[in-house]
Amino acid sequence: MSLAAPTRTLRILHLEDSELDHELTLAQLRRGGIAVEMLRIDSEPEFLRAMEQAWDAVISDYNLPGFSGLVALDLLKARDNGVPFLLLSGEIGEDAAVEAMRNGAADYLLKNNMARLVPALLHAVEANDTRRAHLAADRELGQSKQRLRELAQHLQTSVESERAAIAREIHDDVGGSLTALNFDLAWIARHSDKPEVRQRATSALETVAHAIEASQRVMHNLRPAILEQGLVAALQWMASRFERRTGIACRFTSDREALALPAGVPLVAYRTAQEALTNVSKHAQATRVAIELTVAAGTLTLEIADDGRGLSLEDLAKARSFGIRGLHERASTVGGWVDLSSGERGTTLILSVPLAPDAADSADAAGAPQPELADVHDQHDPSYWGEL
Ligand SMILES: Nc1ncnc2c1ncn2[C@@H]1O[C@H](COP(=O)(O)OP(=O)(O)O)[C@@H](O)[C@H]1O
Ligand SMILES: [Mg+2]
Repeated sequence: MSLAAPTRTLRILHLEDSELDHELTLAQLRRGGIAVEMLRIDSEPEFLRAMEQAWDAVISDYNLPGFSGLVALDLLKARDNGVPFLLLSGEIGEDAAVEAMRNGAADYLLKNNMARLVPALLHAVEANDTRRAHLAADRELGQSKQRLRELAQHLQTSVESERAAIAREIHDDVGGSLTALNFDLAWIARHSDKPEVRQRATSALETVAHAIEASQRVMHNLRPAILEQGLVAALQWMASRFERRTGIACRFTSDREALALPAGVPLVAYRTAQEALTNVSKHAQATRVAIELTVAAGTLTLEIADDGRGLSLEDLAKARSFGIRGLHERASTVGGWVDLSSGERGTTLILSVPLAPDAADSADAAGAPQPELADVHDQHDPSYWGEL
């Protein structure tokens, strides 16, 4: 094997008590076309001090007065920095060589066969460079994934708060004006003697009623007001609406009447069910779907299972599909996660969210429905259910 000499100057620590042998080693490396900067040392304190610096390789004699190559190797390995260690000795027996290799030496060489030195060194340095490059790339990838995750979470939360703001504006501004308009038109219709004015006012009232309905629909899509009735009621409603709209049988079950959930969790669960059902109608070719909401062992579980065609890993890897990816990110905003499984028949999507120790358990005492946390807030603002 022939390896090109690295373009940089190699920094080599040479553990060698003989100045002459050091000179010979240096000459051998230079003859091999390697630019080196070499420091010779021959004691443990010097070695420990030298370890504070960065080295491309350590070349070490086997026997040194008061120190030994194998001890140096142990000290180097303890630092776990991947710097390769080559044993270069005059009288190395097979056992010693085997032990050195077992302890992590990159290679062992005999002083009377220096021809192997250059290729062995280059090989060890290259292996270490590759290892370092991998580590750096892994670190970089990890950081980049982390940044992406944070960005995705940020996007999810900003989309929701933007939606909330728009819904609030429609409610306060548009809704307020339409109500006032409705009121005035009704007044005109009541007080006018002219039939044509009354007729116009009545038709205007119809238009206003239509606009009020439309704004409520838009508001609902932005911020599902039904969540104010609690997650259980909202999912129940979602299931029956889904069944009516798609003709796919949809059953909702829950082990609770009501739940006291931390802020943000109801909306995450609601959007998860929404996306899962959209997927069922878009992709699954299912005839039935079951939604189940349970709280057990302090964890909220929402399961949406269909009996459709199932999905594959390739489906999840689609470059332009962000629904399920978004669900993972959304779940992590409340400390939860999403699992998907797909068998012969159908797909099951499970959202799990660990709850604070006593968040949910007080909820079903004596079957008395307790308000969700969101309900404690202004019941009349359909755009509100807690911090995201
Ligand atoms: N319930 C399901 N049954 C069958 N296939 C599904 C189901 N849910 C998702 N898929 C598949 O997984 C892919 C990714 O879904 P998703 O991330 O929601 O993106 P999108 O719905 O925009 O395609 C879908 O394109 C579809 O092929
Ligand atoms: Mg989708």
